[in-house]
Amino acid sequence: MTSNELRTKYIEFFKSKGHAEISGQSLIPENDPSVLFTTAGMHPLVPYLLGETHPAGTRLTDYQKCVRTGDIDEVGDPSHLTCFEMLGNWSLGDYFKKDSIAFSYEFLTSPKWLALDPKKISVTVFAGDENAPRDEEAAQIWKDNGMPEDKIAYLPASDNWWAAGPTGPCGPDTEIFYWVGEGLPPQGSNKGTDSANWMEIWNNVFMQYNRVDEKTLVPLPKQNVDTGMGLERTNCILQGKTSVYLTEVFQPIIHTIETLSDYTYGTDAEKDKSVRIIADHSRSAVFILGDQKGCVPSNVGAGYVLRRLIRRAVRHGMKLGIDKDFLSEIAATVVENFKAPYPELEQNREKIFKELTAEEAKFRTTLKKGEAEFQKLLPNLMKNPKKIISGKVAYNLYETYGYPLELTEELGAENGFTVDVEGFKEAEKKHQEASKTVDAGKAKGGLAEQSDVTTKYHTATHLLQQALVNVLGDQVAQKGSNITNERMRFDFTFERPMTPEEVKKVEEIVNEKIKEDLPVTMQVMPLDKAKASGARALFTNKYGEDVKVYTIGRDVENDWFSKEVCGGPHVQHTAQIGDFKIQKEQSSSAGVRRIRAVISGGLPLDPQ
Ligand code: SER
Repeated sequence: MTSNELRTKYIEFFKSKGHAEISGQSLIPENDPSVLFTTAGMHPLVPYLLGETHPAGTRLTDYQKCVRTGDIDEVGDPSHLTCFEMLGNWSLGDYFKKDSIAFSYEFLTSPKWLALDPKKISVTVFAGDENAPRDEEAAQIWKDNGMPEDKIAYLPASDNWWAAGPTGPCGPDTEIFYWVGEGLPPQGSNKGTDSANWMEIWNNVFMQYNRVDEKTLVPLPKQNVDTGMGLERTNCILQGKTSVYLTEVFQPIIHTIETLSDYTYGTDAEKDKSVRIIADHSRSAVFILGDQKGCVPSNVGAGYVLRRLIRRAVRHGMKLGIDKDFLSEIAATVVENFKAPYPELEQNREKIFKELTAEEAKFRTTLKKGEAEFQKLLPNLMKNPKKIISGKVAYNLYETYGYPLELTEELGAENGFTVDVEGFKEAEKKHQEASKTVDAGKAKGGLAEQSDVTTKYHTATHLLQQALVNVLGDQVAQKGSNITNERMRFDFTFERPMTPEEVKKVEEIVNEKIKEDLPVTMQVMPLDKAKASGARALFTNKYGEDVKVYTIGRDVENDWFSKEVCGGPHVQHTAQIGDFKIQKEQSSSAGVRRIRAVISGGLPLDPQ
């Protein structure tokens, strides 16, 4: 079975169990400032797990591209990936533990589906703590499905409690593992007794709580199920391979690297690591650049992570002796291999190649200067018996030559040095640099709470976009939006700075629509019908898929101001938003402007 077949089978199986297939979403989360990327399949579904109605119903399934860069430094070993696909199925207050476990076990073991050997499967369930009881219910359901008692391990919250972030929906989970050791697992072996030889393939989370803050866990209005299966890993075990890099997901990319470098994968451990880093990072970079929303390399946020991925790939290319620009050649392989499930890669082909080539060239210049400087410093550094590179020296390489800290660390390590990272940070602070640039790559999961304030900002975004189109014309298209409890940011395509008059006019229109206290109406309809009715649809949804349309206006057919395909949530009527003020209009990147705005006052939202 190939990964393409696995993806198809998974969706087909859950459709046969009454699930609607929904589109995976952008890698850049909408209106969630707490994470840089979509880190799990459930991420775009947070509002629905919290109680919003989903247009496709209460049983959903999809495949979702994800990026996790928390462990970027571990990438290079045979199993870590920064970009992966998650297969998911959800119950929004529909079925709960019993069906969820039975579905998973059937899909994994039935000869009609994956036909995995039940003897090689073991599971874990939540052992219980002050938040929730020991999950005897899940354990019993496993037993009822034929799982032997000694294959069920009860583990603490660190293993069997899943939350996407410090706040948001969460709950106990049951995880499914596959035996990757020799032969068959010995009697009594499970994840609790032998962690190394059991590989996690699927996580079924029983999302029944909302963490409001550190101390408070409140039950959700409905008991939900959120499951996630790692596509690359499961594909790997189905093919009996020891590493995801040996499957067809990565082999074509690795062949391209082999041709470029004239090195044969599998002949030198250190070089193999470089090959894996290039393969993983270039695939991630292509997915990020080719995303519906996407971003370009920069010094902050997601753009900085992208820059780091590209630069690390280039450096490892150099280690393999590739002395020309090569990323666009690898990108061609990635686009070719993933454009069927992710058509946006083909649509953004030119952007991907252009940005990769430009960033690569920029970085080569930087590297040459930085490395030359490092070599100059080396004789002096060698005199230091502790073999520590001071924060000041590392910072100077960064500040003067643009040489990144992580590369100084790598270069240092190659010569037996460690870098005083704390010292680097202090030096950086002194220079009043945005500390974001070094921390950005380390951003971990964490979901913004869907507070009333962010809901108000969300509706204000719709008003703003329509007002911009009215004042500036049709070339205005949303490029991104970012909301916190304190402000909103809205990025849109426009070639020049707005005049102060234009800014004022836009602000006036938005405030006028707020004062008119227009109702906000939600309707569910197929995407093509939504578009035909005049709704703005930003991201690619599947043809014929049911979507939510939010209309701001007195009459959804004949008298409306704004109409957008959007997941919500929104206010019920515009007077709830309050005063709207544009604080800044500035450039975001070439051809893209950014507006920062705040709201204040406004009526309270109606209780749900
Ligand atoms: N949210 C869970 C995970 O990411 C299951 O989808 O593992």
